[in-house]
Amino acid sequence: MTPMVSIKDLAVEFGQGAQRVRAVRGVSFDIAPGEALGLVGESGSGKSTLGRALIQLIAASGGSVQFEGQELMGLGASGMRPLRRHMQMVFQDPSLNPRQRVGDMLGEVLSTHKLHMGASRAARIDEVLHSVGLKSEHASRYPHEFSGGQKQRLGIARALAAEPRFIVADEPLSALDMSIQAQIVNLLIDLRQRLGLTLLFISHDLDVVQYLCERVVVLYLGRVMEIAPTQALFDAPAHPYTQALLAAAPIPDPAQPAPQVQLQGDPPSPLNPPSGCVFRTRCPHAIDACAEQVPPLVPMAQAGRSVACLRHHEWS
Ligand SMILES: Nc1ncnc2c1ncn2[C@@H]1O[C@H](COP(=O)(O)OP(=O)(O)OP(=O)(O)O)[C@@H](O)[C@H]1O
Ligand SMILES: [Mg+2]
Repeated sequence: MTPMVSIKDLAVEFGQGAQRVRAVRGVSFDIAPGEALGLVGESGSGKSTLGRALIQLIAASGGSVQFEGQELMGLGASGMRPLRRHMQMVFQDPSLNPRQRVGDMLGEVLSTHKLHMGASRAARIDEVLHSVGLKSEHASRYPHEFSGGQKQRLGIARALAAEPRFIVADEPLSALDMSIQAQIVNLLIDLRQRLGLTLLFISHDLDVVQYLCERVVVLYLGRVMEIAPTQALFDAPAHPYTQALLAAAPIPDPAQPAPQVQLQGDPPSPLNPPSGCVFRTRCPHAIDACAEQVPPLVPMAQAGRSVACLRHHEWS
């Protein structure tokens, strides 16, 4: 089966010379049609950059991005135009135009993508509002008349209006209260089922990722540390960084053994990342070899699992 999205050796850089930030480096993975893939890692690890580069909102500096088998790198704005609607993004802050009625906002999306240009427009706007749990009468309201959770529903509605097959959701819950977060997660689950959406879900919240995603990519300083089916990752994290990340998250069961790896301090500057394994300066298991070579992401015995650690076989 052709993956929905396939990236190979993707790199994204910002700035030049001494100011060059290598935000994403050598990242390769596939996303299957209908899959929800989680993307986790500390702040600054490159999650948003990777998500944006995947749908060509920012230009990658190297590598390949394929959407349903079609190479996107080098297509340019005009080449991307017909594909754009299939790949949409939901942001932490939906940034709605305060002077635009909700119906007009959705109508604008439809016009941009030349959808429902005739008599079916109003019905389509209605349908999109209902699909995110809002009502027909909301079309005539302005953004300030909505609660935080409803605004995020509007952000999702704006993405859905384009009839996407693939959605990148970048921390869509982070600005919301806990109770509202649960509603939005349930909406995403419902939409996935009903519309068969493929999802890249970027989050700090490992609990939500565990609930929503079938597979998880762990990113650190722009590099993939581990890729694994969700349950396998949470049951037995293979990479020391994943172990630390899970240990740093609140432990639901206090009877569990104390975490072995603690994350101390901040990650190194992406302006000057460590040689070899980028995690080695914070890794309790680091050996000399870790400074000398970038550990390749290698498949583990368990199906669908890969880890980039020279020593993983010693504990997994
Ligand atoms: N437009 C930009 N110009 C320069 N540097 C940037 C730009 N965007 C991101 N960066 C840098 O790239 C790195 C990755 O940033 P990114 O926002 O992708 O991380 P993130 O994992 O999404 O973090 P967070 O969890 O805080 O959202 C960081 O070092 C960041 O400072
Ligand atoms: Mg981000």
